[in-house]
Amino acid sequence: RTIRLAEYSPPAWLVDEVALDIVLHPDRTRVTARLSMRRNPAAAGGADDIVLDGRGLPLLALKVDGRALSPGEITKTDETLTVPGGLVAGRDRVSVETETEIAPAANTALEGLYLSKTCYCTQCEAHGFRKITFYPDRPDVLAVFRTRITGDPAKTPVMLSNGNKVGEGTLPDGRAWVEWHDPFPKPAYLFALVAGDLALVEDSFTTMSGREVALQIYVEHGNEDRTAYAMDALKRSMRWDEEAYGREYDLDLFMIVAVSDFNMGAMENKGLNIFNAKYILAKPDTATDLDYALIEGIIAHEYFHNWTGNRVTCRDWFQLCLKEGLTVFRDQQFSADMRSAPVKRIEDVRALRARQFPEDAGPLAHPVRPEAYIEINNFYTATVYEKGSELCRMLHLLLGAEGFRKGTDLYFDRHDGEAATVEDFIAAMAEANGRDLSQFARWYSQAGTPVVSAAGTYDADARTYTLDVRQTTRPTPGQPAKSPMHMPMRMGLVGEDGTPLPLRLQGEEQGDTPTDRVLELTGESHRFVFEGVDRRPIPSLFRGFSAPVRLETGLGEAEDLKLLAADPDPFNRWEAGQRHGRRRLLALMGEALVQKPFSGDPDFCEGLGAVLADEALDPAFKALALQMPTAHAIVQEVTDADPDAIFAARQALQAEIASHLKAPLLAAYERLSGAGDYSPDAADAGRRSLRNVALHYLSLLDDPDCRDLAADQFRAADNMTDTMAALATLTNMETPAREEALAAFYDRFKDDELVLDKWFSVQATSWRPDALQQVQTLTGHPAFTMRVPNRVYALIGGFASGNPVRFHGSDGAGYRFLADRVLMLDKTNPMVAARLLPALSAWKRYEPGRRALMKAELERIAATEPLSKDVYEIAQRLLAA
Ligand code: ARG
Ligand code: ZN
Repeated sequence: RTIRLAEYSPPAWLVDEVALDIVLHPDRTRVTARLSMRRNPAAAGGADDIVLDGRGLPLLALKVDGRALSPGEITKTDETLTVPGGLVAGRDRVSVETETEIAPAANTALEGLYLSKTCYCTQCEAHGFRKITFYPDRPDVLAVFRTRITGDPAKTPVMLSNGNKVGEGTLPDGRAWVEWHDPFPKPAYLFALVAGDLALVEDSFTTMSGREVALQIYVEHGNEDRTAYAMDALKRSMRWDEEAYGREYDLDLFMIVAVSDFNMGAMENKGLNIFNAKYILAKPDTATDLDYALIEGIIAHEYFHNWTGNRVTCRDWFQLCLKEGLTVFRDQQFSADMRSAPVKRIEDVRALRARQFPEDAGPLAHPVRPEAYIEINNFYTATVYEKGSELCRMLHLLLGAEGFRKGTDLYFDRHDGEAATVEDFIAAMAEANGRDLSQFARWYSQAGTPVVSAAGTYDADARTYTLDVRQTTRPTPGQPAKSPMHMPMRMGLVGEDGTPLPLRLQGEEQGDTPTDRVLELTGESHRFVFEGVDRRPIPSLFRGFSAPVRLETGLGEAEDLKLLAADPDPFNRWEAGQRHGRRRLLALMGEALVQKPFSGDPDFCEGLGAVLADEALDPAFKALALQMPTAHAIVQEVTDADPDAIFAARQALQAEIASHLKAPLLAAYERLSGAGDYSPDAADAGRRSLRNVALHYLSLLDDPDCRDLAADQFRAADNMTDTMAALATLTNMETPAREEALAAFYDRFKDDELVLDKWFSVQATSWRPDALQQVQTLTGHPAFTMRVPNRVYALIGGFASGNPVRFHGSDGAGYRFLADRVLMLDKTNPMVAARLLPALSAWKRYEPGRRALMKAELERIAATEPLSKDVYEIAQRLLAA
């Protein structure tokens, strides 16, 4: 069944308070819920039935205002329980009490209440609460929760829920109980319960108004020494939100629990965040620099949700981007402040292009605020999250930092304690700034990435530069016609050597002329005439990636190489290098097609060499600039993509760069081998990342000076970043050192599940021709299991999404393997199954042979019965478009 935004109607009944009584048992957990309900004055009227969601729950008892109802008096389906309005006619307040029983140990979908190893935990967003008890499970019903948990103190000495602990004790039979009370009204998706034998690490934080908040991180025993970085990131997040947004934490206790089995990254449950352990646990010999950065960003993300998501929540699930886009924007700002802002920006754009652009350009395209869904879990997408963040970033640029802050202040003031909509957010931004944002709002409803093409002409006599820009957006599924977007274009004009030129538009006063400014595009085309331009400029457009568009610059090779050498905007400097890298890859693919030997491009290599040599540049930036566009990026640029040809071109281009820059790369590799105390901070991580990029390039050379670098590094490494970089390199190689390293790694880390995931994924992403065979063998490894999402993502996901050459083997065996696994997983964990499927989403972009093979697998999946609605919906959309 399709749910539509247009069909929203307010709930007929609200819940003021809910008292939950949960008696834990792996197979028979008793859940009693007493709801204090009130007729909604804002409801349409008429529909005064009390409708409670409840998925697959047995109804053991039901009382309305204390009177037990018989089955004949109500309607119950596998999804809902309805108390007819006639039974409560004339009453404005009723109490509804239900009793049900659930089996956490049998819950393999990891939604609702389930067991992760021996620890009870919950995941309620979006529709998990209805698998725990009967309840109006929709985000516009906000209630105060009181939760009593009863359990065996030997098995669950720790029993947690939202808010503050208000009581505990022991029953005559020896069982323990605790009671929690959360004073902040919240929707059911923010409910959480955790119970198990967990270790506790404690700290505290003093808020800006001087309140003391206890901070607690709960982990499996033995992992206490891996929580320090997460705790520190939490304290920095709390301080940052006070300083940047004036947002203070509101309870006396903030808890985080790390669990091993979790479908996604983490969850912002009020006062009790639950995390995939991968995004909490870190120490230098088990976590890479990327892991540290993700921990910092996700800790911040979930913490920031306390205001953007919890205090102000979403009216319905179509508004998901209201909390997610804004919260991603806030976590990106936080990481940019903690680290290098330009490097963070490049990384974020790289991720957007890798994950969101393909979505927007393919069969799964949907607006940032979708209008219809079958399974909402399928819309926790890069479009909702990452493009949603880009929309906030554009507002930030259009309104200025101060204006944006005025807008968020007004938004919080107005909607605190409420369930809001995208319209509410835009209205707050517009009113706080006296701006009309009605055209801007189109970004939320129109899918697809706009293409902006630019063309400039210089008139040396008149000293004018005329810049013409046009925007168009291609049709996307369900949206054939597109309208122009309101977008900020931050730009500059530079001379050949990068000198910033003054930007005075025709008609403007002479005087304090800026060299970097934001122009607003609203129409299909615009002409900007700059005056007083004393030399032929090179335009540097959409600096900092000021709008999520595809830009056709109209620039040639020579201009791109000049921007790579000298654009004062670091993002566009990187961008120019990527553009030229793409141009080179396409050229090499063209040469291969007509069987010409690969040509060289010494100027490009020199340009990259100059970046490498530039003392003023951040090593992390150099590392990004030296990396060539990915195979996935090239698939987006061509028709009839041939993964083998793309792979061959990338290898050739990288080998050319490596041999041209062998000496400086080796020198950098030696110079950066800073042994000493490991720090996960951005500066040290940047040096390691540049050194490991050098290792990657040098290992492509069949050269005695480089051959042993990876094996030597693997042996010498004292941190997981360097270990993994070496292991990944070795895993691609044909050398006995490869098997030795994999075996040594396994031996050392076989009892460490998070590190073992890395061992699986590094083999899944190897470009050796036997990769699929290895992956298949690994599915039979005793340590492999389809029950743990992290392991599935590491091996199956690593292969399908992280191995662009072997997953796309021309015999289709990779596709068949993925489809088999999706179908297998669909029986136990549909959410994870559906998250693997988009690996096939670009099927139409491939050459006819692969296209047919991919399509056949999608059809096989779609024809399977029974199928979860998660997988059904994705397969349908992939095939329909
Ligand atoms: N709200 C969580 C976050 O962004 C994501 C939860 C997604 N879970 C799900 N089952 N769809 O941090
Ligand atoms: Zn989120």
